[in-house]
Amino acid sequence: MPDPTATPGSARPSPPIAEDVAALRANVAQWRGAGERIALVPTMGALHEGHLSLVRQGRAKADRVVVSIFVNPTQFGPGEDLARYPRTFEADCAALAPLADLVFAPQAQEMYPPGSSSMISLEGPAAAGLEDAVRPGHFRGVATVVAKLLLQCGPDMALFGEKDYQQLKVIMRMVADLFIPVAILGGETVREADGLALSSRNRYLAADERARAPQLHAAMQRCAKAIGNGDDPATILAREVEALAKAGFAVDYLALRDAESLGEPDPARPRRLLAAAKLGATRLIDNIAV
Ligand code: PAF
Repeated sequence: MPDPTATPGSARPSPPIAEDVAALRANVAQWRGAGERIALVPTMGALHEGHLSLVRQGRAKADRVVVSIFVNPTQFGPGEDLARYPRTFEADCAALAPLADLVFAPQAQEMYPPGSSSMISLEGPAAAGLEDAVRPGHFRGVATVVAKLLLQCGPDMALFGEKDYQQLKVIMRMVADLFIPVAILGGETVREADGLALSSRNRYLAADERARAPQLHAAMQRCAKAIGNGDDPATILAREVEALAKAGFAVDYLALRDAESLGEPDPARPRRLLAAAKLGATRLIDNIAV
């Protein structure tokens, strides 16, 4: 199908770009007509290897991969980094050129047309505490935009990084609760060689902060090992929070949760260690299995 929205004369390679839902659905309908399976990778752009690994995973499991690029305003709280969130659209499209079949890049008025007034409200342990305690309303915005993207695209599967573990669990819950017919798949966190989880926000780190940033993951690994060996979680977590604070991190949380529900952990079941901390103005989040 000829791409209805590709930018003519663009110097850099790019997959076809759909800017509205009608163009997205026209592409998807054509693929469906040919019996093809479709994967959606929702992103806010500023793509890194973590995103690209999700796209590759999508490619391996489906015939067609759509990547959405939309910096969703409703998931940013007042005073958060919406205005300065990195926007690297051309470079993102160039990175996706060999991997994705379509980029869906709507403007805010396409996703939230004038008069929009429905948002998804979340209950239960997956959406409570951790990120929600620090960024109230964040998951309401995430769940709403992801529900819209899933309904606009109608993919067989959608892929999200495990780095945002609580987000992944909130989305899985939301999709099950609303009977949205899509498989939600998680992709493993991609890390720098020194352990720092890849994130679009890592580019904000000053050189000295970048050098200290891997200490968060190192502290988490120490916690997971000690807790796995049967040490008291509360004592271990308190000790590591103190050590991180001494290293200059402002820790929002370092918490042990049930890996499935994100409710209270039970040593007989898989557990997850989740952390968020600020280094200077940059907020890092991470999680690992225990
Ligand atoms: O993880 C993200 O990049 C965003 O929260 C998502 C899932 C694309 C929704 O805007």
